[in-house]
Amino acid sequence: MGQKKLIKFAAIKEYENVLEYPQDMPGKWAAFFKELEKGTVNIPLEQLPIEQTEKPLVLELACGRGEYAVGLGRMFADQNFIGLDLKGNRIWKGASIANRDGLKNVGFVRTQIDQVTQYFAKYEVDEIWITFPDPQLRLSKAKKRLTHPKFLRLYQQFLKPDGIVHLKTDSPNLYLFTKTIIELFGLTLLTATDNLYGTKFMQSDKWDDRCAIKTYYEGLNIASSNRIHYIQFKLDKELPLELDEKLKDIIAEFEVTETHDSLARNGKQAME
Ligand SMILES: C[S@@+](CC[C@H](N)C(=O)[O-])C[C@H]1O[C@@H](n2cnc3c(N)ncnc32)[C@H](O)[C@@H]1O
Repeated sequence: MGQKKLIKFAAIKEYENVLEYPQDMPGKWAAFFKELEKGTVNIPLEQLPIEQTEKPLVLELACGRGEYAVGLGRMFADQNFIGLDLKGNRIWKGASIANRDGLKNVGFVRTQIDQVTQYFAKYEVDEIWITFPDPQLRLSKAKKRLTHPKFLRLYQQFLKPDGIVHLKTDSPNLYLFTKTIIELFGLTLLTATDNLYGTKFMQSDKWDDRCAIKTYYEGLNIASSNRIHYIQFKLDKELPLELDEKLKDIIAEFEVTETHDSLARNGKQAME
């Protein structure tokens, strides 16, 4: 492992705004952010009290460098933000910026998204942002897409019933896949555009200033679509397992024109 990565891994171990595989955190995020706001988290995490969240809690999944957690943290002082990713060296970037700029409403969790339900209590999270996740184009990998019902069922365990999921992607395939799920399961679609920065959408009442935050992967244009796609929806219906088979049949018919996977790997290498 490179020296730079080791330095970053060592740094985040000292950062109070980064928790690596934290134990016993469900229900305690409000208390954690109150401590962070005081300047230092003096209480051992296991002794933090379980409290009702006064401030909305927003989660950025697969956050990479955490541009959304940090950017939203700047925009909304009255909300708390958590970026979650597996890669410590990427989290280091966002956590360092949050520390430098005194953003006490921004924290990071280093862990696997598959384990995300271990960290939040029922209804603890108000919104989820997923930006430029790997679209996992191969049909055999569809279950790894972060908007697959398998993941949506996890998010439902801690998202408020009226909670919102935002997906920003340059992948037309992931966009279509996600829209298909919303339709198939009867979820409430709030916004969907295949051209987020097109004049028509930007001038419409659907435009949301939060969408203007740019991430590292957004800049890479890996899918070569030259268009940013955006979907905002609610996880407000049950997601019956039986429909997963139907979904499988539907997506088997999709034509995949992107070559995202190999280029994504290059992008990842460039980032590390
Ligand atoms: C393509 S990058 C996008 C990063 C960031 N959202 C952006 O737009 O720049 C995907 C991110 O997902 C993270 N990731 C992939 N699978 C994960 C998993 N199972 N658990 C946690 N993070 C994961 C990777 O470490 C990587 O940082």
